[in-house]
Amino acid sequence: MIIITNPPERFCGEIAVPGDKSITHRALMLGALARGVTEVKGYLDARDCLSTIRCLQQLGVKITPQGNNLIIEGRNMVLKQPADILDAGNSGTTARLLLGILAGQPFKTMLTGDKSLRSRPMKRVTEPLGLMGAAIEGEGGTGNLPLAVSGGDLRAINYKSPRASAQVKTAVLLAGLYAEGETTVEEPHRSRDHTELMMKKFGVPIRSEGLKVALEGRPVLRGSQVRVPGDISAAAFMMVAAAVIPDAEVLLKDVGINPTRSGIIEALQEMGASLELQNKRSWGEEPVADILVRGGKRLEGITLQGEIIPRLIDEIPVIAVAAALAEGKTVISDASELRVKESDRISELCAQLQKLGVQITETEDGMIIDGGKQLKGAEVESCGDHRIAMALAVAGLVAEGETAVHGAEVINISFPKFMPSMRSLIVKKPFN
Ligand code: S3P
Repeated sequence: MIIITNPPERFCGEIAVPGDKSITHRALMLGALARGVTEVKGYLDARDCLSTIRCLQQLGVKITPQGNNLIIEGRNMVLKQPADILDAGNSGTTARLLLGILAGQPFKTMLTGDKSLRSRPMKRVTEPLGLMGAAIEGEGGTGNLPLAVSGGDLRAINYKSPRASAQVKTAVLLAGLYAEGETTVEEPHRSRDHTELMMKKFGVPIRSEGLKVALEGRPVLRGSQVRVPGDISAAAFMMVAAAVIPDAEVLLKDVGINPTRSGIIEALQEMGASLELQNKRSWGEEPVADILVRGGKRLEGITLQGEIIPRLIDEIPVIAVAAALAEGKTVISDASELRVKESDRISELCAQLQKLGVQITETEDGMIIDGGKQLKGAEVESCGDHRIAMALAVAGLVAEGETAVHGAEVINISFPKFMPSMRSLIVKKPFN
């Protein structure tokens, strides 16, 4: 449990957020498949990425920490049959991406996850992987973990995905590495493109045209050096906190601003928040900037729908907090994917924010927030969901009185130093 008391007098300072979760998973997996050594700098040292590390180690990959870096000894596409069942923990990215890799291995592997992950949909990846020739079985079909995957001998496909999901796209592309010929994936909207960018860096012949990605199978991946940018999804909590606290001034250093992830910046700017991107540069293929957020601007409600949704999907819990403090109505739609995240983020978030006095209504594919009311401290629940826990902590920061977030240990899934980072920015009223 974490307890947040009185709103801070000021919220200011400079921090570096942890490494990007999506990029860390991909660096680990591509490093494992490459020929030679991959060095990952600034990786995310948190539970979800540890799940990926453990699974890869069971598949025979040698991964060694070296200070802030990880050294991966690649196996040139050929993994080892694990002696035991693999456990992806709470991590949907680990499970879905790994299914793509396992589909290419000529042996049988069992994969499971925690209670939340076992309830999340897997058909979206098992279906295309089945079309490619992988034999995947589970107790009640292939819709949920645990699953047994017998892979090898894949054929390339042209897959038209019904949803904008980077996990689906990446699973098919990873399997496509094992198939002869060209595998393509087309999406209705652009999802995050870290896989495409990183595969290019590892020497995979891959190209993107509009909403379609194509790769030529059976390439040799070259071990590489990956410098992981700060996670914009972690920075989002600090951005919103700074935007809603009067006189706040926070500089977030080295944040990844890949346009397929930066919807949060556009959304907050449209609400009227002051966000300035400084020192823009590239780390490998990924764009990075320092983001200066100044608080105290009047925020206004906005409408979020369509192509921006996949570019800010993980930030919706904290955007809802900003919306609660903005004048007028915020309408979020086309976001039914939120119902199958680490929790049903539409219904759980609405229920918890209501406890803090937010006027928020659940809709089938999103939520409507009537903002501008003073939040009141209350006892709230993380619902086993790291992003809900952190969004509630940000809300607690500006709520009147005390807010207790129960089950907040789940924050370790993606941002173990969240509370120390927050505390480092809080300037309390001096006692006198
Ligand atoms: C992720 C993709 C997104 C995102 C998740 C991480 C990834 O999920 O919500 O937190 O790293 O590929 P979907 O692919 O299900 O949209």
